[in-house]
Amino acid sequence: MKLKMMYSFLNADLVAIEKELETSIYAEHPILRHAGLHLLQAGGKRIRPVFVLLSAKFGNYDIHTIKNVAVALELIHMASLVHDDVIDDADLRRGKPTIKAKWDNKVAMYTGDYIFARSLEFMTKIDKIEAHQILSKTIVEVCIGEIEQIKDKYNFEQNLRCYLRRIKRKTALLIAVSCQLGAIASDVPREMQLKLFYFGYYVGMAFQITDDILDFTSNEEELGKPAGSDLLQGNITLPVLFAMRNENLKEQIMKVNDQTTPEDIKELIKQINDSGAIEESFELSNQYLDKAFNMLSELPSNKAKNTLHNIAKFIGKRKF
Ligand code: IPE
Ligand code: IPE
Ligand code: MG
Ligand code: MG
Ligand code: MG
Repeated sequence: MKLKMMYSFLNADLVAIEKELETSIYAEHPILRHAGLHLLQAGGKRIRPVFVLLSAKFGNYDIHTIKNVAVALELIHMASLVHDDVIDDADLRRGKPTIKAKWDNKVAMYTGDYIFARSLEFMTKIDKIEAHQILSKTIVEVCIGEIEQIKDKYNFEQNLRCYLRRIKRKTALLIAVSCQLGAIASDVPREMQLKLFYFGYYVGMAFQITDDILDFTSNEEELGKPAGSDLLQGNITLPVLFAMRNENLKEQIMKVNDQTTPEDIKELIKQINDSGAIEESFELSNQYLDKAFNMLSELPSNKAKNTLHNIAKFIGKRKF
């Protein structure tokens, strides 16, 4: 099943959120306006708003309240993408030139900050202090995750624990908090809020592992963003960590440095793809998904729960 088909019953609410996103990005200043709209209109899966809405379905669902949380989460995600593309020197995002490519790094810095500020504006509509505390802490963690990744570039001594801690910070927590804040804003009982948080956390871990796999196995057309660039840039992701368990491959991987060209690395990427490292990475992703399913099984049965289940299943096999 297509991702969007899984939650067609949310369509009217997602249309309202999309409209709100456009309004939110609107800026008097032409550069901020064009750059923000450029990224927004390029599309994207909008998976974080969907998690917000589905988690809110376990409580007193009111779209007028919950849409603010959904918009805020997508905007924070978008701001982090704008900055991430500067850090990763990426020219393509959602099938379109990145803001840093179409304008430059300086414009990207402030467009990211601008989108981020807009998200805070939406969150002010939520009058629960806890929600703001949780979100601030999460953004701090995302920053630490991205900075740790910069620090650990070309560090071939890092272990699995470093990798897992980093992806928890840079990706999984924001997805976990999308679920948690959806639940908090619609007064879901506390115990269930935490279960939804953990569900989002496990799904988020699988989501980034899959993103890291796709960087090896997919291509630019399918992803709408560059493939094969993580290792080239010295980002040591799960497939690389598993491939390095083979001494011969480890020796070659450790030669990668900031002078390595895409041509130099072509054969090595092929070898990593053929080494069993991709399959092992999928296994770990599936272990996280199993934990997510277990967490879900403790929640009351409803349409939202079925949908969360299907989305988690989709994430394990996703191609984009
Ligand atoms: C990309 O996120 C960044 C990661 C955390 C892997 P998405 O894959 O959700 O990006 P869009 O929003 O669909 O473009
Ligand atoms: C996720 O990591 C980025 C953020 C959490 C901001 P990636 O750098 O792998 O994301 P993509 O592949 O560029 O979307
Ligand atoms: Mg990155
Ligand atoms: Mg990136
Ligand atoms: Mg990636």
